[in-house]
Amino acid sequence: MSASSADPAQLLALAVDVAREAAQLVARGRASAADDVDVKSSSVDVVTAVDRASEELVTSRLLAARPDDGLLGEEGADRTGTSGVRWVVDPIDGTVNFLYDLPAYAVSIAAEVDGVVRAGVVLNVATGERWTATAGGGAHLSTPAHPEPVRLTGSRPVSLEQALVATGFGYRVEQRRTQGAVVARLLPHVRDIRRHGSSALDLCSVAAGRVDAYYELDLKPWDHAAGALVAAEAGLVVTGLGGRPFARPMAVAAAPTIAGPLLELLEELHRA
Ligand code: IPD
Ligand code: CA
Ligand code: CA
Repeated sequence: MSASSADPAQLLALAVDVAREAAQLVARGRASAADDVDVKSSSVDVVTAVDRASEELVTSRLLAARPDDGLLGEEGADRTGTSGVRWVVDPIDGTVNFLYDLPAYAVSIAAEVDGVVRAGVVLNVATGERWTATAGGGAHLSTPAHPEPVRLTGSRPVSLEQALVATGFGYRVEQRRTQGAVVARLLPHVRDIRRHGSSALDLCSVAAGRVDAYYELDLKPWDHAAGALVAAEAGLVVTGLGGRPFARPMAVAAAPTIAGPLLELLEELHRA
C-alpha cells in the first residue's frame, strides 16, 4: 500500500463524491419510499428498496475506484480487502425519518485505515448539509446556502442542568424498555431531551453545538463510524461508560464542560 493510497484527505474526497451521488438516488426514491418496505430485527426496524439501492451504488463506486479495499455496510456489504482500508457505510441513517419524510436522514460513509476511522462524511439528504472530518484535520459543515466549509467546535454549556441532550433507541423491545427507563430518569437533570432518529446526524449535531451531548446504547459500526469522527474532531469527548471505549456498548459524545457529570449520571442510571 502506498502512503498516498490511505491519505485521509483523498479518502474523504472520494467518500464525498460517492455520498453526493447516493444522496441524489435517495432523494429521487423519497416519493416512492413506502412502496417497498421490509422489516429486519423487529417489526419497527424497516428497510426500503432505496436503502439497498443506495448501498449498492456506494459500494460499487468505492470498489470501482479502489478495488483492493474492504467494505462493511448495513444492508449486507461485507468484504475483506488487502489495502488496509475498509469503508463503513450506512446507506440511509434515519430510515424511519426517510419513510415519513422527516428531514433528518443521511448517507454516512467512513474510511478506516488499519481498523481506525480516518475520514468520514455524513450527508443529510433532505437538507443538503454535509458534515466531514479527517483525523487530525478537524470537522467541518458545509450547507447549500454556505458551501464554504465551516470548522466545528461544539458547545460549552455551563452545567448539565443547562445541557440539551440527544439520544436514540434501538429496535428490540427489551432494549427500548431499558432505554426508555434511563431517559425518564435523565430528563429531570438536563435542559431537555431530543430524539432526532439518526445517530449519524445526532453525532454531527453535537459537533455543531445544536445539542450539547448525545448518547445511545448498542449502535452498530455503520451508525457511528463517520459521525463519531466528526464529533471527535470538533473537540468533543467521545467515549463509552466506565472507562470503556466508545460504542462498547455505550456511545457518548459530549461537550467537554459537561462530559464528567453526564458520564457519572449515565453510569449510575445504567447500574440501577
Ligand atoms: C438507526 C438510527 C436511529 C438510532 C438507531 C439506528 P437506521 O439507524 O440511527 O437514530 O436510534 O439505533 O439503528 O436504522 O435508520 O439506519
Ligand atoms: Ca443506522
Ligand atoms: Ca440504515
